[in-house]
Amino acid sequence: MSADLSARIRPPGLLDRITTPEAAAALIKDGMVIGMSGFTKAGDAKAVPVAMAERARTDPFQITLITGASLGHDIDRMLTEAKVLARRMPFQADPTLRKAINRGEVMFIDQHLSETVEHLRSRQLGPIDYAIVEAAAITEDGGLVPTTSIGNSASFAILAEKVIVEINLSQPLGLDGLHDIYIPSKRPTRAPIPLMACDSRVGTPYVQIPPEKIAAIVITNEIDSASSVQPSDPETSAIAHHLIAFFENEVKRGRLDLTLQPLQAGIGTIANSVLQGLADGPFHHLRLYSEVLQDSTFDLFDAGKLSFASASSITLSAPYAERVFGNFERYKDKLILRPQEISNHPEIIRRLGIIGINTALEFDIYGNVNSTHVDGTMMMNGIGGSGDFARNAYLSIFVTKSLAKDGAISSVVPMVSHVDHTEHDVDILVTEVGLADLRELAPRERARLIIDNCVHPSYRAQLDDYFARASARGGHTPHLLEEAFSWHTRRRETGSMKI
Ligand code: COA
Repeated sequence: MSADLSARIRPPGLLDRITTPEAAAALIKDGMVIGMSGFTKAGDAKAVPVAMAERARTDPFQITLITGASLGHDIDRMLTEAKVLARRMPFQADPTLRKAINRGEVMFIDQHLSETVEHLRSRQLGPIDYAIVEAAAITEDGGLVPTTSIGNSASFAILAEKVIVEINLSQPLGLDGLHDIYIPSKRPTRAPIPLMACDSRVGTPYVQIPPEKIAAIVITNEIDSASSVQPSDPETSAIAHHLIAFFENEVKRGRLDLTLQPLQAGIGTIANSVLQGLADGPFHHLRLYSEVLQDSTFDLFDAGKLSFASASSITLSAPYAERVFGNFERYKDKLILRPQEISNHPEIIRRLGIIGINTALEFDIYGNVNSTHVDGTMMMNGIGGSGDFARNAYLSIFVTKSLAKDGAISSVVPMVSHVDHTEHDVDILVTEVGLADLRELAPRERARLIIDNCVHPSYRAQLDDYFARASARGGHTPHLLEEAFSWHTRRRETGSMKI
């Protein structure tokens, strides 16, 4: 055994479980429910799923695959192409899988990310046959040291019949001690989760499972897929600028101080750009209580603006991965990774007073938000954690560019074609055009503000006209039902929402 492996698999009795990805994949049978590690391309199992896809070419089988969130390394693509996926949950972001979902070939269950393990624990879902989880090491007493994400992996490993562990030699041993695994007790007698601040440690740094549950250990050496976050552009910078001006104004009015409230920001370019923008503002001692830590988190640390960051995964672009994991000791005591049911837990979000910043595909004149379905029909990625945060946040903010597809689509429409976040869960809407603060406004007041502040000028007159005619017909939330989706149908028929 190499020195490297004895540091990684510390109980000598487990060494005889080391096997090949192919042998581990052969344990997976048709109809099984599999819980696999991976959250926003971080900490995913990297070898066994590839071997599963390979095996399915000659030995077809299908599974229900549950993960934390999206996977890297094209794993969802490979499993889709090999027709391994019968059912998939709770989130994905792969173009090939997306198409299979929209053809009705893969049954996709789009679920709040905090809820999946609650359903598993209460047997509304499952049972899980195998958990396939990446780890940096197995401790002397059999604890799994997670890697760059936790997601649902801890509960998968605890609840599964058997566990396959991928020990990834490329994941630094310095990750040991970063994690805080807390599993809520049974309901209805559950005690409050004792997490009182972003930096609270309330659990253990390892996932404790009986070593006899480990059916196979596979050694890998592949780094996480890099995030594909794009640099800021004029629109995302304008969105960040509006939001920062709003926060400054909240400070002036005495509703926030310059440390703000703990922040959550969704994945992607816009959220990353907004957080980067905070580095230039007057804010200091900021805290993140989020799902995912992107490049911007480490810019804020380096700018001396951020005190602490708690999340369920770290997903970085290639240059940032080198910078952060090459100097990990510099950041480690300011970071905690938690299970996603804790990073997204309604009780904690409400207690800490999180400011949630998430991205919409479209929103309507009353503040309902669609984050998932193009034309109310075609799945994009899934609701992810946006609903966990939006419903429970101190301030629930949604951002989007005002136009999509070169102006053929307005992101502000009369009525959203699918509702993920109702008007009751949405406080602030922001596009590059401006910001609408919807708090304490009635529907007609909301519509006026959204049309004036957020709609692209090329659609403003058209939306004004809709609202004026709907208002004349009356109602608390005026609509012309026969026209409410005409913007979407016009785009399907003519290629553009414009009249
Ligand atoms: N109608 C149709 N398509 C639209 C659209 C609309 N109203 N608005 C945007 N799009 C398209 C874009 O053109 C782009 O298409 P492309 O991939 O072909 O270029 C795609 O949707 C993504 O839009 P983009 O502006 O690049 O934003 P994004 O990458 O930040 O993604 C969401 C936006 C909403 C899809 C993404 O944030 C998401 O999946 N959110 C739900 C999950 C979530 O909020 N998680 C938060 C906690 S992590």
